[in-house]
Amino acid sequence: MARHILVLGGTSPAGLAFCFAALRNSHTLTLYVRNASKLPTEISSNATTIVGDLHDAAALEKAISGGAKTCISFLGPVQSQKKGQLPITDGFKIIVPLLQKYRYNRTLVLSTASYKAPEDKFSIAYWLMIMVVYLLVRPAYDEINGFAPIVTRTPADELGWTVFRVPILKNGEAVPVKAGFVGDVGLSLDRKALAEWLLREIEEKKFVGKCPAVSNA
Ligand SMILES: *[C@@H]1O[C@H](CO)[C@@H](O)[C@H](O)[C@H]1NC(C)=O
Ligand SMILES: *[C@@H]1O[C@H](CO)[C@@H](O)[C@H](O)[C@H]1NC(C)=O
Ligand SMILES: *[C@@H]1O[C@H](CO)[C@@H](O)[C@H](O)[C@H]1NC(C)=O
Repeated sequence: MARHILVLGGTSPAGLAFCFAALRNSHTLTLYVRNASKLPTEISSNATTIVGDLHDAAALEKAISGGAKTCISFLGPVQSQKKGQLPITDGFKIIVPLLQKYRYNRTLVLSTASYKAPEDKFSIAYWLMIMVVYLLVRPAYDEINGFAPIVTRTPADELGWTVFRVPILKNGEAVPVKAGFVGDVGLSLDRKALAEWLLREIEEKKFVGKCPAVSNA
């Protein structure tokens, strides 16, 4: 089914991979971006672009009210994130009520295993990865644990949310993926594989109201 999809964080490497795949699959895209010159022409000439940052409630509402009912977010913490500032968490405080206002019914949000799911099992590799983030990039840990709960607190049957948690992202091919929980999945994921999985999961809705972890199979 061709959908109109609102993409947040579309200029990130995973976001770009998704936009290319979504356009190939005949979806209509609205992109909310801070810097439109980061978009290759193959994407910008085939999508509606709204420019703004995550504090700009008016620009966010313009993007969210543009007709899409499916939203996908690739927003994630950046290396340069300053201590005590949680721009994505602040952004989601504006975004989620707007998605509810405009009756979005499928919402997929990128996160990492730093945000735990009840189904997660113990994995030494994941435990170490989460500890490294916690100890060395605490703002990233706090950000993930700031915005993900804003999504998971909302009724799943309203937004149709799925919080998909990614490991280390790589630039490989669209290989098969495994979607499950910590303890079942691996430590790396190719961005093109993630894009294909997302396009399937939007329709299949296997993980509505859940926070799957995804990796290469
Ligand atoms: C926007 O992106 C372009 C292309 O990556 C870059 O050259 C430019 O410096 C960016 N502008 C800002 C304000 O970050
Ligand atoms: C998108 O726009 C470009 C022109 O920049 C065009 O060549 C391409 O075929 C269009 N379609 C898709 C699906 O990328
Ligand atoms: C989601 O919303 C769209 C657009 O309003 C509608 O066509 C579709 O049937 C809805 N899907 C569900 C599962 O409610």
